[in-house]
Amino acid sequence: MQISASILSTENKIEAINKLNNTNIDYIHFDIMDGSFVENKAFSIEEIRKYSSITNKKIDAHFMVENPIYFLNNLKNIDFDIFTFHIEVDNVDEIIKKLKKTNYKIGLAIKPNTNINTLKSYLEDIDLILIMSVEPGYGGQKFIENTYNRIKEIKEMIKDKNILLEVDGGINNSNIKLLDVDISVVGSYITNSNNYQMQINNLK
Ligand code: DX5
Ligand code: ZN
Repeated sequence: MQISASILSTENKIEAINKLNNTNIDYIHFDIMDGSFVENKAFSIEEIRKYSSITNKKIDAHFMVENPIYFLNNLKNIDFDIFTFHIEVDNVDEIIKKLKKTNYKIGLAIKPNTNINTLKSYLEDIDLILIMSVEPGYGGQKFIENTYNRIKEIKEMIKDKNILLEVDGGINNSNIKLLDVDISVVGSYITNSNNYQMQINNLK
């Protein structure tokens, strides 16, 4: 399994990215929030540009925003590996269409209470499903146990389709053992420690 480190809960993002650059983390996870899709606000266009420029790691961008196309249009030339937005926003088809013109992997995120059947009509068009294991908005929340059932059901739904599964929220060195997915997003378990590499080793 690969690990994607969320820097959302860190005070000094640049310092956190520099620390992660010196670990064997697989991705850096950017939590982008517009204060509307979720009440919290995080990462302006300028900050995303700055943070992307100082890392040598693959960037896993998670857009918790009403209007992902605004960010897409204003972040040309940024080398995201994964561009994930939420299935709960309007115009999902149009956003996918725009993303297909980029080199980004297309990720569709789903909140804990959204019916998983909503994913069905997009399975031919996406590269990744991000299953939220907390309500989006804040780091440091408790993992929602029903996520295990949802992972199982989504796996049955995608069958042998070439779609990566990623889980995000409340993951630590204990519950990660029960997650049979491709990528786990981990924030506070890594960044609340002074020794990021030791935490990543524990997770791996
Ligand atoms: C929550 C974010 C997560 C979160 C992960 O809205 O999408 O990426 O910051 O942090 P932890 O691991 O602290 O839950
Ligand atoms: Zn996230």
